Amino acid sequence: MKLPIVAYGDPILRKKAEEIDEDYPNLKELISDMFETMYAARGVGLAAPQIGLPIRLFVIDASPFAEDDEDGEGDPALKDFKKVLINPIIIAEKGEKWGFNEGCLSIPDINEEVMRPSHVVINYLDENFEEHEVELSGLAARVVQHEYDHIEGKLFVDKLSPLKKAMLKGKLDTISKGMVHVGYKMKFPNPKKKR
Ligand code: NI
Repeated sequence: MKLPIVAYGDPILRKKAEEIDEDYPNLKELISDMFETMYAARGVGLAAPQIGLPIRLFVIDASPFAEDDEDGEGDPALKDFKKVLINPIIIAEKGEKWGFNEGCLSIPDINEEVMRPSHVVINYLDENFEEHEVELSGLAARVVQHEYDHIEGKLFVDKLSPLKKAMLKGKLDTISKGMVHVGYKMKFPNPKKKR
C-alpha cells in the first residue's frame, strides 16, 4: 500500500525519532509499504518520519545510481544496494567533504548541492534484526547520510548557506501549503484554505 509522504513544514520531520524493537506492530508490512511508496515516488531512500512515524527506520535502494551518477558513468557497486536500516548509529564520518545535488521526497522541486564527508561507518539492524556494521563511500554513503538525518530531525536544506536558505524560503513555504504539483500523494502541514 502506498502511503502519503509528509511535506516540509510538518513538525514530525523535526523530531528525533525513537528506536524500535522486534515487537513493533506490523513491521514487515510497514517496510513493504515504505518500499512501495518510495519506488512509486522514484526515490532512492525513505525514512519513517516521512510517512508520519517517529521511529528510527529507513529504507534505501540506490540502484538507480548504478546507471547514472554525477559523471553520467554510474557506480556498478550500487546495482543491488537495497537495504532496510533499523536503529542505525553512525559510528564515524570521514574523508574529504564533497558536493552532491540532493533532493528529498518531502521537499519536492528543490535540488541543491550539499557537502558531506565521503565515507560513513554505520551500525544497524536489518529487517530480521540482525546486526551489521559497514563502511560506505560515494553515493551509498550519501544516501545513508541523507536518510539518517531524517531520523535525527534534520533536512538537507539545513546544510545550505544562509543566503541559499533565504532564497529558498518562499518556495519552502509554498511546499508546506501544498502549492506544488507532485506525481505522488503527499500530506501538507499548512494546506492553503479555499476562499
Ligand atoms: Ni529526504
